[in-house]
Parts: sequence; structure tokens; C-alpha cells
Amino acid sequence: MDLILRNISQLILPQKKMWKIKRPKNASLFIKNGKVVAAGSNESSYLQLKKNLKDDWNNFLSSTEVLDCSGKIVTPGLVDPHTHSVFGATRQNEFKMRSEGKSYLEIAESGGGIRYSVRQLRKLSERKLVEATIPFLDRFFELGTTTVEVKSGYGLSLKDELKMLKVVRRLNAVHKITLIPTFLGAHEVPDEYRDNREKYIDIITQEMIPEVAESRLAEFCDIFTETGVFTIAESEKILGVAKDFGLKIKMHVEEFTDIGGAELAGKLGAVSADHLECVSDAGIKSMKNGGTVPVLLPGTALFLGLKNYPPARKMIEAELPVALGTDFNPGSSFTQSLPLMMTIACTQMKMTPDEAFYAVTVNSAKAVAREGLGTLDIGSVADFVVWDAKDLETLPYYFGGNLVERTYKNGELVYSKK
Ligand code: NIG
Ligand code: FE
Repeated sequence: MDLILRNISQLILPQKKMWKIKRPKNASLFIKNGKVVAAGSNESSYLQLKKNLKDDWNNFLSSTEVLDCSGKIVTPGLVDPHTHSVFGATRQNEFKMRSEGKSYLEIAESGGGIRYSVRQLRKLSERKLVEATIPFLDRFFELGTTTVEVKSGYGLSLKDELKMLKVVRRLNAVHKITLIPTFLGAHEVPDEYRDNREKYIDIITQEMIPEVAESRLAEFCDIFTETGVFTIAESEKILGVAKDFGLKIKMHVEEFTDIGGAELAGKLGAVSADHLECVSDAGIKSMKNGGTVPVLLPGTALFLGLKNYPPARKMIEAELPVALGTDFNPGSSFTQSLPLMMTIACTQMKMTPDEAFYAVTVNSAKAVAREGLGTLDIGSVADFVVWDAKDLETLPYYFGGNLVERTYKNGELVYSKK
């Protein structure tokens, strides 16, 4: 896990100061024991290396594998802060129904959507789900993503929600990608409690959250706050209990309608509020006050054919650390590509390529409470990507393709283009 990358045409270095990205040309990156020990232009990085490795630097230079990166850019590994990567079956039939004019919420109300996914997931064992998810994790590496948040929320019973989170725990042990687990028992009211939603909320607050927190199966608690799903009052109750049990908070808010979800997220000090297609000015203000990261998921609007994209510029002007995620799931966004999200962010929300890149690294790391990830600062973990591109703009420009040549996790090669 020692490696030297030389002659990098541009080394992309997001800085802590918001939206700032340094890009030294003819650069080098030095990795030792899976950590970055020097990064910068060929000359300045040698000086850093000497300083950081002291007597050892000469030995390191002579014994370490060198990769020539002429004509390539190197960036930190991407961080996807919002996915539903564990599921039982795909839903291309709903895609077809939407193409014929049905809406996402109509399909959901007639028993499809999330509730269909719940029926499929309940049929599968922990082992089957682990096996089914591994190819998707490999695909994240192939697309340059090295850290992924993953939600439960297709189990919706104590047993099946725990099963999903155990699948995530198992995948973290057997796969090299980093998974960050989120409990989403409040994703929908399952079939068996449609006439008694109070009872389901009791199960979430009295059984699921205590068990999830005590077994440390999740770091975050999330909820789908939306007309026809969970109300503001219900969200406040559920998330209040989650906070009492030490879980950090995320929320799905303002995807289809504005019911004040972002305001609640700010009030609760949620780590992130996600979707935000219909966010109000009051919601933006509240997120700012609460230190809440807005996570925009433009794949959803594209895939569902919605007219509204989240008002990214307004949120950037309000000095919010806007992040981007794929929302990878079988219903509303069946893509794992963060570069594609950058493309949509640039074309539909008028974010610049620099902002879009910062939003899938530093800001998305912040959205999963992993400050420090998404950079190649000295001492940070060597999660990085070599791209077949000469500059950063080429990443969103090359839309729908894949420019990743190699992906490294903790200094180890985990994907290489054939
Ligand atoms: O983030 N909005 C709610 N949840 C997911 C969709 C999940 C599904 O349709 O299966 C989302 O878009
Ligand atoms: Fe989601």
C-alpha cells in the first residue's frame, strides 16, 4: 500500500475552505501505509516528502512502485451520501408505467413503489441479500466512489429492518468499500399497518430504534417526511426518540411538496436534509441555523421526469455546503454514477463543475459526518481515483460515460479498467 503517482497532469485537491480547489499541474502523490504523505507539484511534493519521511525518504523513493500519470487527472475518491443500495428486486415495470403517464406517488398509493420493494426484500435471506449487493458495490468502485451511505427501509418490520442493517454490517466486513449505515424504518407505513399507522410508529419508537441503537447497527436515523407518507408531527416524534438514543439525524424532505421538512431538520440539528426540490426560503434559513447539510439528488428529478430541480444556487448563496448524491435505489433513481450527478447539477441547477466536484467530495463527506474524507490532505486515507481526463471539467462534460481508469481504497488498487 505504498505508491508514487508521478507526472499527474492535474492533481485535484479540494481545500477545507468552502468551494476552494487547488490543481497543481505536473504533480505527484505519495502514499505510504495507505495514507497520503505528500501531494502537490513535482517539486513541492518532494520537499514535503523529505520533511514528512525524514531519514526514510530516500529508501521510500528507491523501493516504491511508481505509476506514470501523464495526461491524467487524479482526484480524491468520491463520497456518495445517500443511497438505498440493498434491495430485493428492480422495478423497471414502474419505469414503464411512468413513461405512460403515471406518477411516482400514484404508483406508491396503489401499493407499488417502496411497498413493493418491502414485499420483495422480506422474501430474501441475509445471505442472499449480501450476494445480490456485492456487484453494486464493485460498480461504485468502477465509477470512482469509495465511500457510500446505505439506508435500510425496505424491511419495515423489526426483524426485516435488522436483517437489512446486518447485511450492511456484513458487506462492510467482506467488501473493501466503506459503507455508512442509516436506519430508515420510517420510509413508509407497511401494508399490514395501513389502517393503524399509530401502531407502526410505536413499533419504530419503542422496538426498532432502541434495538438498532443498542446493537450499533446504524449511525444515522432517517425518515421520509412527505405528504401521504410521514407528517411533520410524526417526524418530530420519531426523530426525537432517535436523538435520545444517540443516533444522528437525516431526513428526506420537500421532494414532492413543501410541508416544512427542512425547517424541522434545521430545528433538530439534523446532519443532512435530502432532496429539497420544493424547499422554501424558511427551510433554507433553518438549515443554515441548524448546521444541516443540504444533499441534492438530481438523479431523482431526471428519472421521475419531475419539472423541479432543487434550487442549488439559492442554497449556495445562503452559504450552505451543498452536497450531491445518487439516491441509488430501484424506484426513483437507478444510477450509481456521481459524475452523472455532476452533469445534471451543472446543466439543470447551474452549479459550476468545481462546485459539483466539491459537492461529491468535501461536502458529501460532511453530510455523512466524515470530515476529512474527500480530500488528499497530508495524513488522510489514500482513497483516490485516476481518470482518463486532462482537467476537472471533463468529468461532468463526458456525460453518461465512465472515465475512471483506476480506483484506490486505503492505498490499494480496487478497480482497474481492462
Ligand atoms: O429517496 N423518497 C423516498 N425514498 C427513495 C425512493 C425509494 C424507492 O422508491 O424505493 C428516494 O427517492
Ligand atoms: Fe432516498
